[in-house]
Amino acid sequence: MKPAVILLGMMGSGKTTVGRMLAETRDVEFQDTDAILSRRLGRSIPAVFDLYGEEAFREHETAVLRSLEPASQVVSTGGGIVLAASNWVEFRRLGITIFLDVPVDVLVERLATARRRRPLLEVEDWQTRLRDLHAARLPLYRQADLNLECGSGSLEETLESLQTLIGDRA
Ligand code: S3P
Repeated sequence: MKPAVILLGMMGSGKTTVGRMLAETRDVEFQDTDAILSRRLGRSIPAVFDLYGEEAFREHETAVLRSLEPASQVVSTGGGIVLAASNWVEFRRLGITIFLDVPVDVLVERLATARRRRPLLEVEDWQTRLRDLHAARLPLYRQADLNLECGSGSLEETLESLQTLIGDRA
């Protein structure tokens, strides 16, 4: 069995979109930690944040990750999953991690239209918040096994680069 491909990166970096395409191309299952969490709790991610707060969200996120079985699959994650050191133990158990490295200016541009679904950006100066989160998390994302600089090309180009990067690792 080949290891799972786990996509890491900021909100708006395309983990879910690219991950879904990658899974389809490789003919493997696609998993999304946010979607699993939301399904389990029967609430949207913003509702989970509203009702229980970020700390509880993070606990559920870790529980979701722990419940995944090693398999040939693509796993898309929430942007903050890299924060808990114990999550890295689970990543290693499951497969290889890839950081989708998108320049923060591109993230700002993308999230200008989509930020409302992101509870952490529901603040007045969301751009500064995003830049701060990006700067704080960058050293963590860089701990991934592989790094893919993307954000300028089309989705198809990103997918192709991703496939090349993975090679026969997964
Ligand atoms: C978060 C990113 C979100 C979601 C939650 C927290 C984060 O996922 O998990 O809102 O801390 O960056 P996406 O990265 O899919 O937007």
